[in-house]
Amino acid sequence: MATKILIDTDPGVDDTMAILLALRSPELEVVGLTSIFGNTSVEVTAQNALRLVELEGHDSLPVAKGASRPLARPLRQPGTHVHGEDGMGGTHPPPPHGKLLPMPAAQFIVEMVRFHPGEITLVPLGPLTNIALAVLLEPGIVSLVKEVVLMGGSAYARGNATPAAEANICNDPHAASIVFRAGWPLTMVGLDVTTQTVMTPEYLDDLGKAGNPATELIHKITPHYQAYFDQFYGMKGSIHTHDPSAVACVIDPSIFGTESMPVYVETEGRCAGETVPDRRRQWLDEPPVKVCLGVDSTRLLALIKERLTS
Ligand code: RIB
Ligand code: CA
Repeated sequence: MATKILIDTDPGVDDTMAILLALRSPELEVVGLTSIFGNTSVEVTAQNALRLVELEGHDSLPVAKGASRPLARPLRQPGTHVHGEDGMGGTHPPPPHGKLLPMPAAQFIVEMVRFHPGEITLVPLGPLTNIALAVLLEPGIVSLVKEVVLMGGSAYARGNATPAAEANICNDPHAASIVFRAGWPLTMVGLDVTTQTVMTPEYLDDLGKAGNPATELIHKITPHYQAYFDQFYGMKGSIHTHDPSAVACVIDPSIFGTESMPVYVETEGRCAGETVPDRRRQWLDEPPVKVCLGVDSTRLLALIKERLTS
């Protein structure tokens, strides 16, 4: 039976790849999308989420708009320099036809989890504000969620938003702290693994050659993202594989090597958003998190290519 997943997302170039991967994978049943600020404003990410479900012919899939700002800290600069003002690499695709649900993302998350007790895997690909708001709204969902598999954080790879913090956690450390402390089964797919898997220009060209609507969209929106990686990391057209890694981890967890340990989220000061791994288990007041530390990049890239091009 397919795993029911609810994707919380800020599309976003890599979110787009991740959502398309999920919608094209028979192991998964996407039950809805919720949007969040991050790579651009929540208004724009919500429209992009609608566009993506329509592109794949899932017009009736529910999409709910979420939070526009973090729980407690000021809103950081959006990731438009990475993903474009439109979150779609500056390509300005036409508006979607569909409408957003008339309820906020947090409420939708609570309702879906209650409706499918023990069955939903939450897959957050952006700041964790919607997920934390859902927990605050109905703490009972923690025991009803099957698991949480999130793209975010960094155990040993340091940060990408600041020297200490990965972008999704940095964008709302208080929300991340609530999510990491909730006590549900949680897998952190962070920079330790997502930066190990590199999509080269040749790989991206191969995707483009498939010529289906999904790969055509990816082919259009990726150059802006590639330019960012080149400017900041000198990657010459290659990119890291962030959000698709989290979806792949639900499809086939055997691609990743994990270690269970408490992870503390720093909420204040210069290191806000840092995810501190406690390998020696000294901070046992923090619940254990499955931290992805290894990845079979060859298998991961093959899985993504196979699903997107078929
Ligand atoms: O650090 C990478 C994460 O930040 C990805 O989810 C990307 O889409 C941005 O949100
Ligand atoms: Ca994202």
